[in-house]
Amino acid sequence: MLTVHDFETAARAKLDPVFADFIAGGARDEITVRANETAFGALRLLPRALRGSAARELGTTLLGSRASMPILLSPTAFHKLVDPEGESATARAAAATGTIMIVSMASTVAVGEIADAARAAGGPTAQLWFQLYIQPDLEITETLVRRATDAGCTALVVTVDSPVLGANERNRRNGFHDLPAGLRCENLRDLRDGESGHVRQIVMSPELNWGHIDWLREITSLPILLKGVLHPEDARLAVRHGVDGLLLSNHGGRQLDTVPATLELLPEITAAVAGRIPVLLDGGVRRGTDVVKALALGAAAVGIGRPVMWALAEGGEKGVRRLLELLREELDDTLALCGASGLNDLTPDLVRPAWSGR
Ligand code: FNR
Repeated sequence: MLTVHDFETAARAKLDPVFADFIAGGARDEITVRANETAFGALRLLPRALRGSAARELGTTLLGSRASMPILLSPTAFHKLVDPEGESATARAAAATGTIMIVSMASTVAVGEIADAARAAGGPTAQLWFQLYIQPDLEITETLVRRATDAGCTALVVTVDSPVLGANERNRRNGFHDLPAGLRCENLRDLRDGESGHVRQIVMSPELNWGHIDWLREITSLPILLKGVLHPEDARLAVRHGVDGLLLSNHGGRQLDTVPATLELLPEITAAVAGRIPVLLDGGVRRGTDVVKALALGAAAVGIGRPVMWALAEGGEKGVRRLLELLREELDDTLALCGASGLNDLTPDLVRPAWSGR
């Protein structure tokens, strides 16, 4: 396993094709899925010379949470689809690497158990954030927030790009509508009497609005990030509503198809928030050079989604560890080759559009 793409190939060879499609797929024509990766390819790096330093500092602090590198695990559902230990294995790998895992609300291990696994591997400072779909029933939402808080999660990532579920035609063709027997969304167990954590308990909220964010701000003191804000005006509104950070994301192209690549939107979004809150980005990050391009254009950190699922499928906890180490090595040598000794040296002048060749 030398590249993220090696993990993708290995996972595809190993997985039930229905699950492999669930991971790789996106909404409708998957135009945005492809655009996310293509956007990184459309930029070139322009390194500085003779700025050598013996070692590079990759660590960073994001909303009070320490990370050994600016690469987070974006929230992905259903890890037990690809590995029997599921999110516990992922959490151990993230904690051993010292980076932040954003636990999906739709995890197949309960957040408290994931936190125990993370602390066993990374000690008391292992960092977990919790991704939340605000439920129409606010009492249930409050219970979910309490479960995440009690587990020691240090931030909430509220996904706001899913008022309804994006239409994934691969899943429809494959007849993939339900989790295999025995797999449950463990965070949703017993929210009401006798509920088993069936995936259908997760309700998308077409009525979601800024009032819900104001309500959430009232009931929790954890930092709140919004995941899935794409319009610069919404980024300004997020600041006005007291949100602590943005995770600029198009859900890996799984919600509204044909929205722009996240990298393409990054300059507008960072301009809109004007340094008042950090902007993280996910979508299509596959190489250390991708991380450097996003940070040079103003992202505080990046998230990876599909690569984590591929690595977990390929090699369980060890696979995810290897993936994170690979990306760290790529990031480190890209910084060195750019003449950067730390993340603060990554400035917009290091990036330019590819020449069209004409
Ligand atoms: C996701 N994503 C996601 N997002 C979220 O907010 N809650 C979730 O439960 C999930 N689940 C999920 C499952 C799978 C299999 C994938 C591939 C993605 C979206 C995820 O957090 C992230 O935005 C994208 O995956 C990032 O793009 P890349 O890295 O996959 O290109």
